[in-house]
Amino acid sequence: MSSKAPQDTVQATGPAQEAVPSLASQASYLITTAARAPSVHNTQPWRFKVSEDAVELYADPCRKLRVDQSGREMLISCGAALFGLRLGIRSLGYLPAVTLFPDPGSLRLLARVSFGAASPMTTAERRMLEALPHRHTHRGPFSEGALPHGLLPGLQHDALAEGAVLAVVESPFAYQQLADVVTAVSRRQDFDPLARADVRQWSRVSGSASRDGVPARAFPAGVFPEWIGGERGRLRQRDFDQGRQIGTLPVEGPPAAATAVLVTRGDSKIDWLHAGQALQRLLLHAAGRWVFACLYTQPLEAAAIRTLIRTRLALPGPPQMLLQFGLATTTQATARRQPGELSERHPC
Ligand SMILES: Cc1cc2nc3c(=O)[nH]c(=O)nc-3n(C[C@H](O)[C@H](O)[C@H](O)COP(=O)(O)O)c2cc1C
Repeated sequence: MSSKAPQDTVQATGPAQEAVPSLASQASYLITTAARAPSVHNTQPWRFKVSEDAVELYADPCRKLRVDQSGREMLISCGAALFGLRLGIRSLGYLPAVTLFPDPGSLRLLARVSFGAASPMTTAERRMLEALPHRHTHRGPFSEGALPHGLLPGLQHDALAEGAVLAVVESPFAYQQLADVVTAVSRRQDFDPLARADVRQWSRVSGSASRDGVPARAFPAGVFPEWIGGERGRLRQRDFDQGRQIGTLPVEGPPAAATAVLVTRGDSKIDWLHAGQALQRLLLHAAGRWVFACLYTQPLEAAAIRTLIRTRLALPGPPQMLLQFGLATTTQATARRQPGELSERHPC
């Protein structure tokens, strides 16, 4: 990707070559690549409209969580899909020309992407593309060991290049402060009726044929054990099981190797799209080194808690996502809907 400072409109750096392929002929590939993005509860809240010369990315509010009233988590998810779309265009040998919110009359239309100048993919981009199928949210145990040397600064560079900041929680004191807030807030929110309804709607039992939602093999049974929290170096996870004993993921194992907070400068819809693009970029970079992350937004669903975490950790902006990184040798890719179901014209 370009290492230039992010802009709301990323202009191509020169005239595109004569024989630019039609985007419509690549629609299925580009949508499949974009749709591998992480999304809150695997809601996949995105739609696409593809013409000869542009791919349009739309939010799908039918898939917005009840607890996500402002649509922040929906737009972070869509931002992650936008990064995948850009990566797909890079793999075809072109720079992406991206305009965010191109039509002020349609706030559902998040981005219009077309071919910019011809430019071969970089090695880093190729590695990200190769990591796409095995990148996953890792809620289970990590393997023993530190992160590869230089990876964390590399992920921080990724965030900066996308208009966000990855603030690493370095000191044990700061970690404990964060863990205490997360434990208290998550425990309370696990009993919130709206949050519970969201989890019930978007969690799947073993053997389910659904191509959305969080599958039983991706979360543990029972309430997330307290002993995995603070002192063992894993933050308290969202309770996807809700006492149903349907989760099948083992949780016991070494702690996470690093904890970080994804932060943006402002807190607008555009910032949320930047956060999502930064998220997918750094997750793919990490996955290329077999480093995966567990993601946490449950504590950030209450505005007051976002402010509290920002203050306690002296963050340079509003927190958008908490992440814990570690090594793993297993991959647990979750299902995605087919490109045909993601058309802007497809019914809700
Ligand atoms: C905006 C956003 C919020 C998320 N919040 C959480 C969370 O609070 N807890 C969690 O376990 N996973 C969270 N995730 C991860 C999703 O559940 C995950 O991306 C989705 O189930 C698809 O699985 P995959 O990432 O393995 O492809 C979040 C992802 C996004 C993009």
